[in-house]
Amino acid sequence: MMAIVVYRSHSGVTRRYGEEIAAFVTARGVAAQAVSVGDCDMATLADADYLLLGCWTSGLFVIRQHPDDPWLAFVREMPATPRPKVALFTTYQLRTGSQFPKMRAALAGKTASPQLELKSRNGHLSASDERSLEQFLA
Ligand SMILES: Cc1cc2nc3c(=O)[nH]c(=O)nc-3n(C[C@H](O)[C@H](O)[C@H](O)COP(=O)(O)O)c2cc1C
Repeated sequence: MMAIVVYRSHSGVTRRYGEEIAAFVTARGVAAQAVSVGDCDMATLADADYLLLGCWTSGLFVIRQHPDDPWLAFVREMPATPRPKVALFTTYQLRTGSQFPKMRAALAGKTASPQLELKSRNGHLSASDERSLEQFLA
């Protein structure tokens, strides 16, 4: 089994979260690599059993949260990838608001419907995140 964690990070927190997610998934027996949207080889996506897609939350802090342009461009360029189970993740400071709905809307028709949403303020996996990931992998 193989997982790909693709993240878009502006200042590093989402990269850390993606790397912790990949390390946890690997420790649970599913080989995972974390790559930025700029470094992701689209050809590898078709082989993945699990696809975990993350982007930092940008917006006006209380309203209008959305994934940023490089993440949206990555999704636009991504081939339709119906096979992998999909999870979304984000990092934020105040509220994620419309972030996950916007990520889901961008992915519609490209991937299976995401089964998990993880969010973090500090980019570290919580115990609750770990339980959710275990269920996602089961
Ligand atoms: C321009 C800008 C807009 C932001 N908008 C929001 C927001 O609407 N809601 C929120 O909770 N955090 C917001 N944040 C905080 C970031 O989402 C948070 O710091 C995130 O962890 C950054 O991830 P990164 O280090 O991977 O870039 C914003 C940060 C910036 C720089």
